[in-house]
Amino acid sequence: MKIGVYGAGNMGSAIIEGLIRSKEVQPSDLFIKGGKSQTAENLQRKLGFTLVEQEERLAETTLILIAVHPDGVLPILDQLPEKITKEKIPIVSVAAGVDLPDMTAILGEDYPIAHCIPNTPVRVNEGVLGISYNPLITPEAKQVIDRTLAQLGTMIEIDESLLEVVSAVAGSAPAFVDIFIEALADSAVLHGVNRQLAYQIVEQMIKGTAALALQSGQHPAVLKDAVTSPGGTTIKGVAALEKNGLRYAVIEAVNETLK
Ligand SMILES: NC(=O)c1ccc[n+]([C@@H]2O[C@H](COP(=O)([O-])OP(=O)(O)OC[C@H]3O[C@@H](n4cnc5c(N)ncnc54)[C@H](OP(=O)(O)O)[C@@H]3O)[C@@H](O)[C@H]2O)c1
Repeated sequence: MKIGVYGAGNMGSAIIEGLIRSKEVQPSDLFIKGGKSQTAENLQRKLGFTLVEQEERLAETTLILIAVHPDGVLPILDQLPEKITKEKIPIVSVAAGVDLPDMTAILGEDYPIAHCIPNTPVRVNEGVLGISYNPLITPEAKQVIDRTLAQLGTMIEIDESLLEVVSAVAGSAPAFVDIFIEALADSAVLHGVNRQLAYQIVEQMIKGTAALALQSGQHPAVLKDAVTSPGGTTIKGVAALEKNGLRYAVIEAVNETLK
């Protein structure tokens, strides 16, 4: 399977690395078209994918992903080589805010296209990928897209009107969780734990907490209750978080992201 990618920045490189790690594609079967800087060249030296100068080479692929800034998506679609549009190679855009109707207005109602919002954990095949398909997509094209993107994490098919919420709570929220990791680790350091060990403890704790919630299927409140014994230390910590408005701070953060 050969896959084309426009853009090798933060998200493009995360997708490229995730696909290589999945072993679904060989590095040389990834055809990457970079932008104006040396970003893609530098990454190519590290990962060994096929760097393409001429967009025509993307016509050799079975799926094309677009991971450039939102304002660059429609110009790319507008100038796609004829060979790509003629063969109707499925296209997935991961750009926030460029919706399917914007894209099909250029490519045609029946062009196989999807709008996907991944998050940076796709780099380690643990991403969340919200996805909406052009309603007229064929089962074959959908299968090509799903088979590829499923290597990067959990796919959630969702109405396109809700993709921006996915973008907030899965695309932006890794930054919120990173701050939470840092804050917890700071507190461990404050109380004498070595910095590196503090990050290791907190990161594994978050991974384990998420795994327990996912695998048990239990409500988060039930899992929280299981940690908070009456009059114990954990409930005192919970009270302090509530006093400082953690829940509302999180909701406000998402609201701001959605503005
Ligand atoms: N970062 C995230 O967590 C995240 C999450 C979900 C969705 N997204 C979406 O992913 C897209 C990219 O975001 P990003 O964070 O990866 O931005 P980024 O780090 O700035 O990367 C964008 C890359 O696109 C390249 N580029 C620009 N025009 C191009 C063209 N015509 N052909 C090929 N490459 C081109 C740029 O290359 P040069 O700099 O060399 O010109 C740059 O390396 C955005 O649309 C964003 O909405 C990002």
